[in-house]
Amino acid sequence: MSQDLTPEMKKQLAARVNYYREMGIHDFYRQHVAEGTQVMAKPPAEAVPVVAAPSSSLFETPLPVIQDKPAALNLIREDIGDCTRCRLHKGRNKLVFGVGNVNADLMFIGEGPGADEDAQGEPFVGRAGQLLNNMISAMGLKREDVYIANVVKCRPPGNRTPEKDECDVCSPFLMRQIEVIQPKVIVALGAVAAKNLLAINDSMANLRGRWYDFKGARLAVTYHPAYLLRDPRQKKETWKDLQMVMKYLGLTAPAKAQE
Ligand code: URA
Repeated sequence: MSQDLTPEMKKQLAARVNYYREMGIHDFYRQHVAEGTQVMAKPPAEAVPVVAAPSSSLFETPLPVIQDKPAALNLIREDIGDCTRCRLHKGRNKLVFGVGNVNADLMFIGEGPGADEDAQGEPFVGRAGQLLNNMISAMGLKREDVYIANVVKCRPPGNRTPEKDECDVCSPFLMRQIEVIQPKVIVALGAVAAKNLLAINDSMANLRGRWYDFKGARLAVTYHPAYLLRDPRQKKETWKDLQMVMKYLGLTAPAKAQE
């Protein structure tokens, strides 16, 4: 295929590959392109310089600071494309990439889209999403202040739990989103997110209530909002987890949430 590329296209391709390398990304998927389809070597946005982060005493290898995060996220979205890498694409209406503040200190990661998310292409917009919004408000933040994503980007049929191979094929893109956002704190919502991110197979009771170092961030585990809708008694425990996060981020609850 490389013989078909013009020198300008080769230059653009090299720039893109170099950009990914600088982000620490070394695995590339090549999309199948039907015969006759023109391959546009769309360059990354011009302003995607990467500079080394100042070294931190906490983390031996600092992640590069991405200057143009929207452009970096667009590249990830482009790389996902009209994904058919796993069986979940078959029932998909809209792929749910992620939403929120690209400079967020706080990132929430759920399991996978449900029916509402699949219809709208945005994570956590249904009933569980309403509860997540309330949790975010209780922390003194707005939904627009945080970044929200899921382990899998396509809705599992009937809202079943995503299977391991589906998570395995999708989570590299989530890892790249995390590397771009570089939040200070990640909150894993529920056991599926926690187990996939941490590769620890344990009960929620054991996973909660502690910090994990994860890709230069601190990661906390709490109950999934959908679970809280079924068992509201666990909201109290969830609030403890969120308070741990708030303390670390220096957030204060609005007066109402403190009562
Ligand atoms: N549950 C999830 O895990 N993610 C969503 O986006 C919606 C519901």
